[in-house]
Amino acid sequence: MRLFDSMRQDGFEIPTGILSAKPSHEPDQKTASGCLSLDGRIAAQWVRQLCAEKVKSWGPAHLAVILASDDPASRIYVNHKIKAFKEAGMSSSLIEVPAGMVSESALVELICQLNDDPSVHGILVQLPLPHGISQTKIIESIRPDKDVDGFANHNVGLLHQGRLSRALLPCTPAGVVVLLGLYGVTLHGKHAVVVGRSAIVGKPMSGLLLHEDATVTIAHSKTPDLKKVCREADVLVVAAGKPELVNRDFVKSGAVVVDVGIHRTPDGKLCGDVHPDVTGVAGALTPVPGGVGPMTIAMLLLNTLRAAHLRQRGR
Ligand code: GUN
Repeated sequence: MRLFDSMRQDGFEIPTGILSAKPSHEPDQKTASGCLSLDGRIAAQWVRQLCAEKVKSWGPAHLAVILASDDPASRIYVNHKIKAFKEAGMSSSLIEVPAGMVSESALVELICQLNDDPSVHGILVQLPLPHGISQTKIIESIRPDKDVDGFANHNVGLLHQGRLSRALLPCTPAGVVVLLGLYGVTLHGKHAVVVGRSAIVGKPMSGLLLHEDATVTIAHSKTPDLKKVCREADVLVVAAGKPELVNRDFVKSGAVVVDVGIHRTPDGKLCGDVHPDVTGVAGALTPVPGGVGPMTIAMLLLNTLRAAHLRQRGR
């Protein structure tokens, strides 16, 4: 089953291609070389607005966020998530556990309480966790129907079986499919190459692309001649975690390039896994920042709303 079909079944009607036509008052989204910028901020705003409307008619959807590390980046991410929930008229609570005081058993106990609390529809444990705490154990202690990150075995299994209408899907890869869909990028019959095989992005991304009827290649750090493999892609999704790994030599003319990476350069600027020179050959590119990142948060709102709604309907 394709993602947009499963969302439609769940009451989220997301039209395809609505962002491909440039409104006359917007600045030109194309670079001088004709590469279209796939604007995640605009697409995410569209999804957030949809969630804001749905929550009014469907009733409350509450996310509990657990922050158990001192990592400043994690705190920033969590604050962005809480703010987005507020703006959409959805509720959330932040449970902070000081990193020095956290233990695996205390975290599991906390999650069990949230699992049993009917007013909590989604549970998110911000990663990474402090050293010595098993990420797997913590994720697996979340009830699958509240696992709004879609990281737990149950949801991973449903994704790979193609049972998308029952699954909570990982926010970043699902956000990529929605972003491409809103821009009218068709995946059916295309050759998609995913660079990176992480559990959070690469693997679920490849599963979702497969369900969109793309022919999927997963490449990674041990792939011989990565450049050649990438150059075969109609759609290239880069989630390698390496700053500017992919440059114009990796990209076929006219390909759609999705950059999932985000890094801080030594001079304080942000960059992705893709070098900006790909705009000279690519047909479309997600910018960093403002591409995939905003979609991740928007999909978290949508997942929490879905979790609440699925439970309400006893699914
Ligand atoms: N840390 C970085 N990205 C994520 C994410 O998507 N979910 C969680 N829980 N932690 C993260």
